[in-house]
Amino acid sequence: MRVSALSPSNSAGGLTILLLLLDFIAPAATVKHENFKTCSQSGFCRRNRAFADHALAPESNWVSPYEIKENTLLLQNGILTAEILKTVPGRTEKVVLPLNINFQKNGAVRVTIDELKRTKGDIVLRGESKARKERYNEAERWALVPGWDVRDDKVVYDNQKGQITLTFGPELKYKAIITVYPFNVKFERDGETHVVLNDRGLMNVEHWRAQPPEPEEGKEKSPEDLDGGWDETFGGNTDTKPRGPEAVAMDISFPGYEYVFGIPSHATSLSLKTTRGGEGAYEEPYRLFNADVFEYIVDSPMTLYGSIPFMQAHRKGSSVGVLWLNAAETWVDVVKEKKTKTDTKTHWVSEAGQLDVWVFLGPNPSTLYKTYGELTGFTKMPPTFAIAYHQCRWNYVSEDDVRDVDRKLDKHNIPYDVIWLDIEYSDNKRYFLFDKLAFKHPESMMKNIEKTERKVVLINDPHIKNTNDYHVVEELKSKDLAVKDKSSEIYEGWCWPGSSHWIDTFNPAAIEWWKSLFQLDKFKGTAKNTFFWNDMNEPSVFNGPETTMPKDNLHFGNWEHRDVHNVYGMTFMNATHQALEARDIGKGKTQRSFVLTRAFFAGAQRIGAMWTGDNEAKWEHLQAALPMLLSQGIAGFPFSGADVGGFFGNPSNELLTRWYQSGIWYPFFRAHAHIDSKRREPYVAGDPYTGIIRDAIRLRYTLLPAWYTAFHRASKDGMPIIRPNFVVHPDDEEGFAIDDQTYIGDTGLLVKPVVAEGVDKVDFYLADDEVYYDYWTHKIYQGKGRKDYSAPLDTIPILMRGGHIIPRRDRHRRSSGLMKHDPFTLVLVLNKRGHAMGFFYHDDGESFDYKQGAYINRQFMYNGSLKTLTSRDLHKDRAAGAAYKKVAKALQVEKIVIVGASNSLDITALAKGKSKAKALLVEEDDGKIKEWEASLSYTAAADKDHADILVIKNTKLKIGNDWTVYLEQVGGEKDTPKDEL
Ligand code: GLC
Repeated sequence: MRVSALSPSNSAGGLTILLLLLDFIAPAATVKHENFKTCSQSGFCRRNRAFADHALAPESNWVSPYEIKENTLLLQNGILTAEILKTVPGRTEKVVLPLNINFQKNGAVRVTIDELKRTKGDIVLRGESKARKERYNEAERWALVPGWDVRDDKVVYDNQKGQITLTFGPELKYKAIITVYPFNVKFERDGETHVVLNDRGLMNVEHWRAQPPEPEEGKEKSPEDLDGGWDETFGGNTDTKPRGPEAVAMDISFPGYEYVFGIPSHATSLSLKTTRGGEGAYEEPYRLFNADVFEYIVDSPMTLYGSIPFMQAHRKGSSVGVLWLNAAETWVDVVKEKKTKTDTKTHWVSEAGQLDVWVFLGPNPSTLYKTYGELTGFTKMPPTFAIAYHQCRWNYVSEDDVRDVDRKLDKHNIPYDVIWLDIEYSDNKRYFLFDKLAFKHPESMMKNIEKTERKVVLINDPHIKNTNDYHVVEELKSKDLAVKDKSSEIYEGWCWPGSSHWIDTFNPAAIEWWKSLFQLDKFKGTAKNTFFWNDMNEPSVFNGPETTMPKDNLHFGNWEHRDVHNVYGMTFMNATHQALEARDIGKGKTQRSFVLTRAFFAGAQRIGAMWTGDNEAKWEHLQAALPMLLSQGIAGFPFSGADVGGFFGNPSNELLTRWYQSGIWYPFFRAHAHIDSKRREPYVAGDPYTGIIRDAIRLRYTLLPAWYTAFHRASKDGMPIIRPNFVVHPDDEEGFAIDDQTYIGDTGLLVKPVVAEGVDKVDFYLADDEVYYDYWTHKIYQGKGRKDYSAPLDTIPILMRGGHIIPRRDRHRRSSGLMKHDPFTLVLVLNKRGHAMGFFYHDDGESFDYKQGAYINRQFMYNGSLKTLTSRDLHKDRAAGAAYKKVAKALQVEKIVIVGASNSLDITALAKGKSKAKALLVEEDDGKIKEWEASLSYTAAADKDHADILVIKNTKLKIGNDWTVYLEQVGGEKDTPKDEL
């Protein structure tokens, strides 16, 4: 993050001064805790924790003061409405809270609670504020997909003495049982309770009240005078709260569930810890308040740059989830209570907005992710280069520097797809303008990069330099598109450029304007191979409270920043994404966007990729990255990465090497480094490190077809791209908390990166009795439990689970673009019964033609009994698929590798080298059936602990066609395995 808000220009001289200055700035030891609030320093969090403490104290005999007014209940078109009445001590009039329960066809349920007085605008704002009076009700506009509201019109209603039962969902398997007083809702599936709202009576909607006068001396404060509910000062900044206290809180219990996951981003374990103290527990709730946390620490519930308020509860046989759809600052307490079974009990508190909670009843991880994705959207299908290797640092300082890095990577045969330019590319932090001295000819730089089909990513932040003679700020002001302060004047704060204004991307006119700025003829020097990086969009404001904007700032529609804080970053990213998709790249053509964001909210997966911000070149940060990225996948935003090498500091060669070996498994794979750090491009360390890093990056490229296929799956049904043990083995209780190894898509590849210094082995956890093979040596690992795996520095620990087929491209090239005509290799990893199955998705990797059906989507199946490998079309529209196959006609399978061949075939003859057996290949090509033979090469197993390998060479099969490979001739004598797939 920052070195100095006043960093001088990046002109040649300026850069030298900057570098000199940096030498004198000692890096801080660790996160500055004092810059960020703890729960007890945040009025609404403190109040609600105290509320919970009181309610849960046995002596309080607590009864939640919320009750449904029965005669207001109405079920219409899949929505149940009613009024909830809140009893306030000392008041006769009850507070009216409209309740709305929306039942969706896919079984998801939304429970929204508003406050009538505020909805009607019947409140008096404090001070001169022009803020909206309602509770914020537009989070769904950003988080949910357009057209999300597909109602269940078959809900069955039954009211029995204060208990209302609604039966709903697929095959009417779900029930919502509402107790009228005290109000709570139990969600059942198949007769069992899975989720309970207001189970412990911690629901708290802070109703509107005028600020009570100061009590006379010796008198008590009015109970309506909530602690921290009015002006609140932290770190020298005072937040005036025009609407007074307005928090919403609810407890959500998951009976019988010991594990909860999700609510990223936190540098913590995948399985969420408890937060109310005790051994191994946190003292603080998990906080969701997008913030630029300088030198964040690991193993902490502290807030980070992005927030997804989605939580999954999992147990053997069931997965359920909730989405707390609130864009304001939020804290989540987690406790676990063990009776006969363990129950997880959570407590959610947001500073403002409606109480809006979605419940998903699973029943398993994949159905849960699908339902959640139908609501918030699935991962965008990225352009291919975006999933290859990205070379970044703050900063490649000039065109010469870019050329040099490009050449050296080529010289060392290290593939890369994208070179990144950080803030110093700009003319004095005036984005949209290249520095005139360092980047004199950006067009030719882009062209040069394009020669190897590579791309350039430029950074573009939401703060706009407040200076004279800058068209962007002039337009921002004249068009009135900036965020306002509490007096409705243009807001001014400090970021990289010094004094800055912030674009208000909630405003549709601001999005339109932003779009115009990215057109190639407007942003001079950019080309169609230029893409963008949105950073500092929490937003980061160096002189703001907790390094962000004052909460009483105003956005489009006069919503307070408080209401929309967590969603702001996503609106900015959305504007950039729209701008890129609207960019005319020549002849009226458009292409897929690529935008990397630091701040995010639920739904951001529809727009681009995220990374985990400013980590450090330390082993514990390397270790923290995988659980963080696994958590992103759980929360529906799998296109995620962490700075490879660690942003701050200088990694040792060993750490850097291990980080690359780990980073190749991040869905978003980018090396990045702070301006203050030493150069560390992969070729800098020298051998053996450079060679080992090269091999790692090459492996990423080899497996790109598998990665692209995994992205495709995520874009269709929300299955995470990297998958923790519990997602792949949802019934394996022992493995639920495992977060230091991961499966890659449907490939059966299981990887466990080395994340500690001086370590030369890892222990894989195998969840089942399937056979696993070492990727490199084909050594067999079998049997549930821990397995030692030797991993000296040059070895990346990878196992292949039996039963899968992995698509690869084995030729090494300089970029993924240069691989586009290359043939494929299929690796068949036979399971213990001799079978295997796999998937393959392919399209042009850049245009939107795939939306018209221009793609190949195949399922490969090796039947160990029949000894056949078949390729089956999964294309939804065969005609459109056939059209694309013509384009992709040249794409062939050159090689088929069968690992564990003897699980299906009798290879005795082959092993003796006597057999002349060949594989018979039958393909349907343009309606004609063709038949030919291909030769085989066989490598016997070294010993009983290793697998044997059969390779079918030079197959010439077209990857887009239907075909079958027959191997009966090879192993005719072997007994046919009895079990089927
Ligand atoms: C922020 C980003 C970092 C970037 C720097 C300069 O700290 O997180 O990645 O290099 O700003 O733009």
